[in-house]
Amino acid sequence: MKFMDLIKGRYSVRRYESKPVEGEKLEKILEAVRVAPTAANKQPFKFIVVNTEGREEELKTIYGAEWFTQAPLVICGCAVPEEGWVRRDGKNYSEVDVTIAMDHLILEATNLGLGTCWIAAFNADAARKVLNLPEGVEPVLFTTLGYPADEPQPKTRKELSQIVHYEHW
Ligand SMILES: Cc1cc2nc3c(=O)[nH]c(=O)nc-3n(C[C@H](O)[C@H](O)[C@H](O)COP(=O)(O)O)c2cc1C
Repeated sequence: MKFMDLIKGRYSVRRYESKPVEGEKLEKILEAVRVAPTAANKQPFKFIVVNTEGREEELKTIYGAEWFTQAPLVICGCAVPEEGWVRRDGKNYSEVDVTIAMDHLILEATNLGLGTCWIAAFNADAARKVLNLPEGVEPVLFTTLGYPADEPQPKTRKELSQIVHYEHW
């Protein structure tokens, strides 16, 4: 798929078929995570792949939407801040790194005909408990992963002139 078609074709999928994700496709999607660039190449993250079948009740404590557990898989992108690159002024880039890797994951999933939805509005304490996260590991993002059972809606986006300045603000 052409890159522009890919990024314009991705949309937030909030209804899924029960059809499982093929292992081969999941491997490609996780390889896209692995090759993502990170600040100083620190790779300060872990991705946790969760089969939703049979775990619906506990997963709903993380994010309550029905489609969250309708997808056969959910994936959590976690930062490990102590492994991240830190700028001189103290800013830790591990969450930026996780987000870039999650974008790789989501775009490769789209490329393979799968649906995803970025999720930030989850209960982080519930995620720590259900996923048994150790101290120092921060759940940053989830996505669902499965075959879409809905259709993309027209995109509403700001105009370029509203988001880009040249030379100065
Ligand atoms: C960082 C991030 C967090 C998001 N969190 C949620 C979320 O918690 N729940 C949800 O339903 N959608 C979430 N979304 C999806 C956005 O609402 C969606 O991307 C946006 O409305 C544009 O629609 P589109 O993805 O279909 O192009 C999130 C998207 C991003 C990038």
